[in-house]
Amino acid sequence: MSLSKNPSAFEKRVKRRIIARQHEFFAVCSPGLESLCRSEMDELGDPILNPRVVKGGVAFEGRLEAGYLANLHLRSPSRLLLRLASFKAANFPALEKSISSVDWELFLPSDADIRIQVSCKKSRLFHSDAIAQRCRPIIQSRLSTGAPQESGSIQTLMIRAENDRFQVSLDMSGALLHRRGIKGHVISAPLRETLAFALLKESGFHGGDILVDPMCGSGTFSIEAAMIRSRVPPGFFRSFAFEAWPGFRPENFNHLKKKAKEKFILSREPEIFASDLDPRAVDAVRANISAHEFLNSIRAEKIDFFDIMPRPSLQKGVILLNPPYGKRLGQGQNADDFYHEIGQKLTRDFKGWRLGILCPDHRTRKELSLKQLRSRIIFHGGLNLIAGFGVI
Ligand SMILES: C[S@@+](CC[C@H](N)C(=O)[O-])C[C@H]1O[C@@H](n2cnc3c(N)ncnc32)[C@H](O)[C@@H]1O
Repeated sequence: MSLSKNPSAFEKRVKRRIIARQHEFFAVCSPGLESLCRSEMDELGDPILNPRVVKGGVAFEGRLEAGYLANLHLRSPSRLLLRLASFKAANFPALEKSISSVDWELFLPSDADIRIQVSCKKSRLFHSDAIAQRCRPIIQSRLSTGAPQESGSIQTLMIRAENDRFQVSLDMSGALLHRRGIKGHVISAPLRETLAFALLKESGFHGGDILVDPMCGSGTFSIEAAMIRSRVPPGFFRSFAFEAWPGFRPENFNHLKKKAKEKFILSREPEIFASDLDPRAVDAVRANISAHEFLNSIRAEKIDFFDIMPRPSLQKGVILLNPPYGKRLGQGQNADDFYHEIGQKLTRDFKGWRLGILCPDHRTRKELSLKQLRSRIIFHGGLNLIAGFGVI
């Protein structure tokens, strides 16, 4: 909604109670990515107040703009929440009273399709469906008092109860944040961009490095690396749930995007080499590259990893590997042997390169025979994978 010259009583309330106020936010992270997210926040400067790592993410404060900035610029969190209320309730009347005290119509568009997600732990109110059923009509009746809007938006409310303490939050992001809105062509088993970013960071990738992504699949590592290099914010090409809120001012958000765009760097050098054995993967990466100029530094080729020979004159950079495992490993191919061969190839031809590699378990990680790597458990696709990092 943009502000009219003669603001209505409703617009004045939105301005006073939502826009001019400080809010509490929470950046939800996959296990292990919290500190990385905290360090990313440092780069966003003043609007982000008092960031602190807590279990499952990073809490911070600020005006709405801080939440917009975080959604636009942070690469590691899965979603951003706006905290709406926190209260004790051991029975339904107490819950209903506290839910009624939230100014729902100032936060949400009047026509919002509201999804309510409830989780309960050690609380007297423990039936999540019953909690959602009690809250929904209260919220809905308040929305009908707001300014009529045709947003057609889905808004997700998260209600968490633990030891009778309720925390009510509104999802700012909409689609999960790993959806950067630029990888239109995908083949099976893509890595999440949030995780790809963490692996790039931990393997020591800086924008100026050469990157080799020799089992690229849909090209997640390569595309994320090109975004980092070009300083394209992860949220630049997507939309967010908050864009339908009554407190959203498009002109303010467009200003943030304009400032970000002024910092874009379009450079073809040094190259990012994305390759795969599967021609469908190479086609997908090429199709993704063709959609955006800043992806021009990626070169996609069909080549077997075991046939890649980096030119001796090539500056040593970073190599990232997310080899197949489980069912995706070719029929009759033994995982131990496959990872052993990968280790041998890396030692032979990539000496001095910085490596990041995802292994399905400790055994395959050991088969690499790269003792110098430090290991870290990474949660992905419902599995605990072992990531290895270090100089080969
Ligand atoms: C788990 S997927 C990688 C997914 C990728 N990180 C993404 O985000 O889309 C593993 C990829 O390794 C490729 N691959 C398997 N063996 C290969 C080899 N010897 N050389 C090159 N690519 C290979 C497969 O075709 C598959 O695309």
